[in-house]
Amino acid sequence: MSVTEKSLQEKQAWEPLIVAFCCNWCSYAGGDLAGTSRMPYPANIRVIRVPCSSRVNPMMVLRAFQRGADGVLVAGCHPGDCHYTSGNYYTRRRMSVFRRLLEYTGIEPERFQVTWISGSEGAKFAQVMNRVTEEVRALGPNRKLRDAR
Ligand code: FES
Repeated sequence: MSVTEKSLQEKQAWEPLIVAFCCNWCSYAGGDLAGTSRMPYPANIRVIRVPCSSRVNPMMVLRAFQRGADGVLVAGCHPGDCHYTSGNYYTRRRMSVFRRLLEYTGIEPERFQVTWISGSEGAKFAQVMNRVTEEVRALGPNRKLRDAR
């Protein structure tokens, strides 16, 4: 097998890995609803449940990229609905600044996304997971920020 054939085969076998930090009170419940309603979403998503979207600090996102994530999603309650009153306002501000830092380092903006999904939005959860997976798939594997092994 030639080198070109081997790299083509590797490219075809590649599947994006998406880490989704979901707040316990809304987005995770939305994911639960998607599951119990049998709404399909890709198996590429690895959900990490956090108490609130504001629990996610930029180092957690960087670490996910370092450990092999091709895309990272932070999902929380809609603005005004945070279980802790204002947590997602902190998330919104913090992550918009952090996004600019990521862009500065050369990470494509589609690889890092922030979204709001309520506990009653199972369909939105499935739709967002499908969309993010397809956007990251179109970009190909993430090679920046990866740990050297
Ligand atoms: Fe959901 Fe704060 S509890 S964003």
